[in-house]
Amino acid sequence: MQRVFSGIQPSGIPTLGNYLGAIRNWVRLQDDHACLWCVVDLHAITAWQDPAALRRQSLEMAAVLLACGVDPVRHILFLQSGVRAHAQLAWIFNCVARLGWLNRMTQFKDKAGKDRENASSGLYVYPNLMAADIHAYHATRVPVGDDQRQHLELANDIAQKFNHDYGVDFFPNIEPVIVGPAARVMSLRDGTKKMSKSDPSDQSRINLNDDADTIALKIRRAKTDPLPLPSGVEGLNERPEARNLVGIYAALTDTDHASVLKMHGGEGFGPFKSALTALLIDKLAPIAAETDRLLNDPATLMAILRSGAERAAAIADPIVQEAERLVGFVNPGRC
Ligand code: TYM
Repeated sequence: MQRVFSGIQPSGIPTLGNYLGAIRNWVRLQDDHACLWCVVDLHAITAWQDPAALRRQSLEMAAVLLACGVDPVRHILFLQSGVRAHAQLAWIFNCVARLGWLNRMTQFKDKAGKDRENASSGLYVYPNLMAADIHAYHATRVPVGDDQRQHLELANDIAQKFNHDYGVDFFPNIEPVIVGPAARVMSLRDGTKKMSKSDPSDQSRINLNDDADTIALKIRRAKTDPLPLPSGVEGLNERPEARNLVGIYAALTDTDHASVLKMHGGEGFGPFKSALTALLIDKLAPIAAETDRLLNDPATLMAILRSGAERAAAIADPIVQEAERLVGFVNPGRC
């Protein structure tokens, strides 16, 4: 069975983008893969996180993932900082990846913004840690949203260079799993910007714990244009907001843009937004309720995360120890 790894930063409440672009696909892969799902708190601190908020958000993220259908018994759910192998392998990868490769990462440029001198060095080597997350388990499939594509290409470049430099065939090639009409959900306020949990405007996104009234209000206020919906997908060109709402509708109904337009083409945004709101509430209300239930039982949540970290470490530790041996580190404890 192929091993799958994916991660999510506990840098806020997960959004509809996280859900449709990633988490929902994680759950679907659980049927026929061996999966590791990781709350990547080491990645989160590449930008400032208030410690109390980080603690709360890490547990909230774990609860949301469980509420979405992540199975912690047949698969593994854990916090990244609880498995030392990630940071150990990331250091080796810091020494394999080239500065030129990191300089081409568009997410660093976006996140560092204009004040690049003031960005943390962690933010710069972020993709090396991400490569370590995956390769520490010899995972071969990685379900993500479209924004992670470049990072996964880098993870493959790192693996190839490691294998080449040390004359081994140790780290396998990884295959990104980027699927569905919502692989890139855009902001509700600006159809050219990605929906993000760290966007300063709460109106730009649907959070997975938003209640029905909040969802209705955000969709009602979502930016659109004055034209009715087109009847074919070509009519969505140059209409990013319309494309985004149709894509969300398609993902929620497990169809595609064309099928949604077949049903709703010619409609104004008023009725379309009402239908979309009903779909969203139907999908998200049970997730919010289950998240609350899990957060009210912290002992069970902690037990799941403790067992997850132990089982993850049991896989990663021998792989990372072998990488250390290949690099030439002496381990007196093992001689
Ligand atoms: P993060 O926390 O930004 O997002 C988690 C997952 O959600 C996807 N996603 C989206 N998909 C569609 N539309 C959107 N607007 C949207 N926003 C986010 C992301 O693509 C991602 O799949 N670097 C990663 C976390 C990570 C990771 C890993 C992922 C760390 N190590 C190893 C895979 C493998 C990140 O910041 O995700």
